[in-house]
Amino acid sequence: MATPTTRLDCAELDKHDPLAAIREEFTLPDDIVYLDGNSLGPLPCAARARVREMVDVEWGEGLIRSWNDAGWYDKPRTLGARIAPLVGARPDEVVVCDSTSINLFKVLSAALRLRPGRSIVVAEAGGFPTDLYIVEGATSTGYRRKLLYDGQDLAEVLDDDVAVVVLGHVDYRTGRLRDMARLTDQVHRAGALMIWDVCHSVGALPVRLGDCGVDFAVGCTYKYLNGGPGAPAFAFAAQRHQDDARHPLSGWHGHADPFAFSQEYRPAPGISRFLVGTPPVLSYAPLESSLDIWSRVDLNWVRAKSVAMTSLFLTLVEQECVGHGVEIASPRYPEERGSQVSLRHPDGYRIVQALIERGVIGDFRTPDVLRFGFTPLYLRYVDVWDAVAQLRDVLESGIWQEERFGARASVT
Ligand SMILES: Cc1ncc(COP(=O)(O)O)c(C=O)c1O
Repeated sequence: MATPTTRLDCAELDKHDPLAAIREEFTLPDDIVYLDGNSLGPLPCAARARVREMVDVEWGEGLIRSWNDAGWYDKPRTLGARIAPLVGARPDEVVVCDSTSINLFKVLSAALRLRPGRSIVVAEAGGFPTDLYIVEGATSTGYRRKLLYDGQDLAEVLDDDVAVVVLGHVDYRTGRLRDMARLTDQVHRAGALMIWDVCHSVGALPVRLGDCGVDFAVGCTYKYLNGGPGAPAFAFAAQRHQDDARHPLSGWHGHADPFAFSQEYRPAPGISRFLVGTPPVLSYAPLESSLDIWSRVDLNWVRAKSVAMTSLFLTLVEQECVGHGVEIASPRYPEERGSQVSLRHPDGYRIVQALIERGVIGDFRTPDVLRFGFTPLYLRYVDVWDAVAQLRDVLESGIWQEERFGARASVT
């Protein structure tokens, strides 16, 4: 694709975009350019009616009968089967429940038990903090956490005491995309198991857990999957590990026969053993509407448009915003990039706040990262153009230096 040189060129690209019509299926305020779908996806229009139906009909009228009649009890599995094609898994390898953090604790505990005699878990120093903290918590007795630093080769930390490696597929700070197939193979050749955090790649690009031979994975549904704030996360366990996988959160929904109410825990066969307690049923409703949209979308189109948008943004930023202290923090080569572009600036927080006031919503990650997520289901090429025009204006005018942009909110 030749780089568009005018806003009209961008509008022309939008006219020929095979995903263009899907934007209408989301609720997006007219005056907003939403570049934060990598943090919280927007509301699918159909979710309103689905939530109302679940509340009014399934809960209001069906009451407790809905655990059976409306399929509430099976939702973690039925929704897992619907997420499976988005991550290249079999329908019986994914379950939707709990948060990413809790699912990581479960799959990590299970993986450690599958590698007795080894005592090290490798995690990335720059990984998303919850992954680091969960690894720290899960390795507090008898295990050790070893950190992989930015730029360090995995080979340097792998030895025959490493039991498990936990990596993020797309770096939440820079958007750098890791080579899942190569790294998983490298970890396996060292005799260890591989866990991927796919929070920033699921729904952003085709993920191939099965083809890459991944052992376990976790991911969330509130970012690119548009499942709503705090929507339940998912856990993936390769079929070959399921029968031997044991973790310590042995709650009754992971029991082989929960309604036998027996005194001893007996893990359910298959992926169900990764369930713990009663699922938050109402939180599944918006995700169902979102997955209806995803079931009609070709992930290769998503990736092609994502690459085109991130490339366009990078080119325009380089053209329009140089000389204002902004640096590019994301990889230049599209094959090394997820679906976000990050910039660095010492006053990044203020600049993001000034952009938000002008209707361009991105976010900030400490100490100096401005993040912009490009979500092909509902963003247009003209949005990319408009976002860069606003960024240039904010930088050129220096408006971000005004006092009101300095006050830090709890969520950045
Ligand atoms: C890579 C990654 N892992 C995990 C999480 C969050 O996990 P949880 O859903 O448990 O809050 C995030 C949230 O932004 C994330 O970016």
